[in-house]
Amino acid sequence: MKRKLLSVVLTGALAASMFVGCGTSTETTDTGAGDAASTTESSDSTGGGAAGGTKVGVAMPTKDLQRWNQDGANMQKELEAAGYTVDLQYASNDVQTQVSQIENMINSGCNVLVVAAIEGSSLGEAMDMAKAQDIPVIAYDRLIMNSDAVSYYATFDNYKVGQVQGQYIIDQLDLDNAKDTFTMEITAGDPGDNNAGFFYDGAMDLLKPYIEKGTIEVKSGQVDFSDVATAAWATETAQSRMENILSSYYADGTDLDICLCSNDSTALGVENALAANYNGKYPIVTGQDCDIENTKNMIAGKQSMSVFKDTRTLASQVVKMVGQILSGETVDVNDTETYDNGTGIIPSYLCEPVFADKDNYEKLLIESGYYTEDQLK
Ligand code: BGC
Repeated sequence: MKRKLLSVVLTGALAASMFVGCGTSTETTDTGAGDAASTTESSDSTGGGAAGGTKVGVAMPTKDLQRWNQDGANMQKELEAAGYTVDLQYASNDVQTQVSQIENMINSGCNVLVVAAIEGSSLGEAMDMAKAQDIPVIAYDRLIMNSDAVSYYATFDNYKVGQVQGQYIIDQLDLDNAKDTFTMEITAGDPGDNNAGFFYDGAMDLLKPYIEKGTIEVKSGQVDFSDVATAAWATETAQSRMENILSSYYADGTDLDICLCSNDSTALGVENALAANYNGKYPIVTGQDCDIENTKNMIAGKQSMSVFKDTRTLASQVVKMVGQILSGETVDVNDTETYDNGTGIIPSYLCEPVFADKDNYEKLLIESGYYTEDQLK
């Protein structure tokens, strides 16, 4: 815990000596799937007072998945509203790009780093550099592994996300009273993302007893995390794996009852595969994030549920943590047991994930201003 105190004291002193107005923001934009090239946009926010302001580096994984665009935009908006200068970067899901971006943030004088890692274990050098300069690091949504440079972690309760998905399946099929056997296939997340195991475990800890009893049958036999993981959470990878499964195990007319998908990008792949290669009874399909395409699919009956993680809540929490770190206050955490990154437990703030389906999406997503009605048409 010493490392945290040191950072807090140093940066607290720094913050006390600086007042910051609305700042300059530099945003590197990645331009789409598979495109490692970046264009850099700089914009000066109005309000002035940026020179000498406290600068927060925000490293996001990719613009390819909708949620990270929202996370980045929310972070930038909230940090600027709080008076910080923001250096927001997207790395096209390329680890080396992200490492360079973080190193640039450090070299260009960022006082705090907020990092959503592409691959949790690949940021070692950049983290060492941050630590050497006493720059506090907040791991954003995904834990940065095997580095003692990480001061805090802010995320959603990842295990609970999986539990919400698993419990939904249990309730929908009334598995405790079921006489029938239900078929299920599992699509999990990226093995390089520490969250993926938590999602899988949360759901599978609830569902495994039914597999063991025979109430659920996984016809492909692919149950272990390593067999069902999806590199980079890629829709196309999830789709082609599900196409193979459908043609190998369900082409004889067997119904597939359940598709446990850890998130929306993988669910989308599974939904595409079902549309192209399956004519049986439509299965329960789970997801996470309430991405626009998936929410549209929920409305259209092609996805049963999603887990809503309001990125505005996470951004607010992180901005609060940044302020607390810089002013030397006690940092608001609500979990000091769950997230060990290999160097010890990282004090964490876990936001609450919320169940979403076609019956509550209007209230959750439209009335709350997360999406407009038009975005979901
Ligand atoms: C996030 C999920 C997201 C996935 C793919 C995970 O780390 O927690 O919300 O769907 O990455 O981007």
